[in-house]
Amino acid sequence: MKIGIEATSFYSSHYYLDLKTLAIQRGVEPEKFYHSIGQEKMAVPPPDEDVVTLAANAAEQALQGVDRERIEAIFFATESGIDQSKAAGIYVHRLLDLQPHCRVVELKQACYSGTIGVQAAAALVHRNPESKALVITADVARYGLGSAGESTQGAGAVALVVSANPKILALDPEAGYYTQDVMDFWRPNYRDEALVDGKHSVRVYLRALGASWEQYSRRSGRTWPDFARFCFHLPFTRMGEQAIRHLAKNCGQTDLGDKELNALIGDGLIYNRLVGNLYSGSLYLSLISLLENTQENLENKRIALFSYGSGCVGEFFSGVVAPEYRQALPIERHRALIRDRQELDYTAYSRFYSYALPTDGSTNKIPENETGRFRLSGLSQHQRIYEKRS
Ligand code: CAA
Repeated sequence: MKIGIEATSFYSSHYYLDLKTLAIQRGVEPEKFYHSIGQEKMAVPPPDEDVVTLAANAAEQALQGVDRERIEAIFFATESGIDQSKAAGIYVHRLLDLQPHCRVVELKQACYSGTIGVQAAAALVHRNPESKALVITADVARYGLGSAGESTQGAGAVALVVSANPKILALDPEAGYYTQDVMDFWRPNYRDEALVDGKHSVRVYLRALGASWEQYSRRSGRTWPDFARFCFHLPFTRMGEQAIRHLAKNCGQTDLGDKELNALIGDGLIYNRLVGNLYSGSLYLSLISLLENTQENLENKRIALFSYGSGCVGEFFSGVVAPEYRQALPIERHRALIRDRQELDYTAYSRFYSYALPTDGSTNKIPENETGRFRLSGLSQHQRIYEKRS
């Protein structure tokens, strides 16, 4: 039985900051962000957008044409959740009017948790092939103003419907994974911004990649030539370039130059370069970017996927692209979403960044910005109020 991704969609904020604007403000050469970090623009959420609205907007689109009655689980993966107790997916379940016989849970492990969501969804579908599971990765990547991580922020959600009818990607059963207790990136409960040891985090990422690949290749028997393309977790797109070089070296592919290596990942960097880090959704945004932008027909070709979450957990897995996958992807909608965004100047960016919701239970109405179908309209008695726009 084939199990994998039947449908997918991503959603990101209507607003973005061009990293040239940030470079000027921080007294940095724009070339550093555009070339050495590999990011051009980063999505900036307005105050009435949070992981729930990002997720609901992505999931509503992913569910178009899917039999919703068969959604029996929601795995909501996030690093930037809004509640220590209640799963954000329960709000999404209501906003999308999903049927009540559905399990909903929130998953956390930095940027990795979407992948255990996908694997757990596949296991549930294996147990009951009639059912489908909705995996949502939604995050607001937030670092301190003026910090080294600031240029690698972003926001957005990717929703994936996992079922026994994988119209986009059939998952291979083999995976390789790696865990180590490291402090490369973390966010204590009392902080809104992540703390990060940036250079250390890059080294740990590459170590986790090597160790995960080693187990994956031993278990599956697959080697470098088995893969048509590679998708990586992309905190910034230059990380993908470092990752493919590291993996090529581990696989003994020393004769491949930068051009050949970049061709194996390049189409998977396009959307991420314009949206920024989605944390839990970055790998899946890269997969969508690859499938929607590659000129070559990838039908029946195998794609390698590497998921990484600081702290840290890595997982190397793979899937085979389904026949006629392009028809199952909302390509035009995704392109329009990125194209039709509104640019912010630095003042508007810092205003959005600094907007603080009350923490004393008082009632607050959030000014309306451009959002998708769902928005956070305010807070009252410590409860978030979401509204569906017509
Ligand atoms: N013009 C062009 N390039 C320039 C330049 C200039 N004027 N000045 C510096 N650069 C280059 C540097 O030479 C360097 O290039 P190489 O990587 O090729 O050596 C590059 O710009 C980065 O500059 P720095 O070495 O000075 O690094 P930085 O202090 O700006 O930090 C960063 C970069 C570590 C990525 C930082 O943005 C960061 O901490 N980001 C958040 C953490 C992160 O994303 N880590 C990734 C792994 S962890 C993970 O994947 C989980 C997750 O999602 C967070």
